[in-house]
Amino acid sequence: MEVVIGQSAEELALYAASMVRDVVRSKDHPVLGLATGSSPLPLYTELIRAHRDEGVTFAHVSAVTLDEYVGLPPDHPQSYHEVIRQEFTRHVDIDDARVFSPDGDPARAMDAGERYEKVLTELGGVDVQILGIGTDGHIAFNEPGSSLQSRTRIKTLTDQTRSDNARFFGSLDEVPIHALTQGLGTILDARRVALMATGQAKAQAIAAMVEGPMSASCPASVLQWHPHVTVCVDEAAASLLEHAGYYRTSFERKPSWQKW
Ligand code: F6R
Repeated sequence: MEVVIGQSAEELALYAASMVRDVVRSKDHPVLGLATGSSPLPLYTELIRAHRDEGVTFAHVSAVTLDEYVGLPPDHPQSYHEVIRQEFTRHVDIDDARVFSPDGDPARAMDAGERYEKVLTELGGVDVQILGIGTDGHIAFNEPGSSLQSRTRIKTLTDQTRSDNARFFGSLDEVPIHALTQGLGTILDARRVALMATGQAKAQAIAAMVEGPMSASCPASVLQWHPHVTVCVDEAAASLLEHAGYYRTSFERKPSWQKW
């Protein structure tokens, strides 16, 4: 894993945005994997700025979200389909019809995972996957105990994740109990991964992911198996890394051969 320790969320966003811009520039039909939650917001802000001020176009891009709550209609303000539209895609020139999410309708949820995997395959896979990490080490909604080879499926959210996400809803009771999520095996299929995390609350999960054993107890640790992951963290999120001194080289000064 490449670990990039930045001074601020904005600095990390610039770094991750350059990865996204490389892919968007170099491919005819790039596929972006988008995460919701707070961590990628500075990155989306930077991409929106680049579109507005520098004419970076997303007209040829497809996007896929990582996960979706089961039971929220797609236009519900907290459905991830709608959140990603509000936070990012509606501000750039990406075609709405090219933004895909798992189908969270409970009536169709049983085979929604399989159908979503088909969409990902038809698109040719994800070129760059943006991720956040939960305080319990989850990525997407792969909670501790998830199979390291899992594919898109329904998961029951832990109490910890529901209470972490209650801030987006009126109350804890309104947070859905189930979600459809790309599996860990699905995420590993992405050609590149950029994981964003800031703040002390993420420090333990980051240490377990980067330096702990690969284990279902910290689902994000499966990323140690991926050949092309960049972990973008601030000092607080990096504070429990035992080898932080080793990673600490400022990324601006890193020789390019170390970049990945
Ligand atoms: C969201 C997602 C989640 C979040 C994670 C961190 O699509 O898949 O795994 O990335 O819960 O959330 P934040 O960034 O809000 O701390």
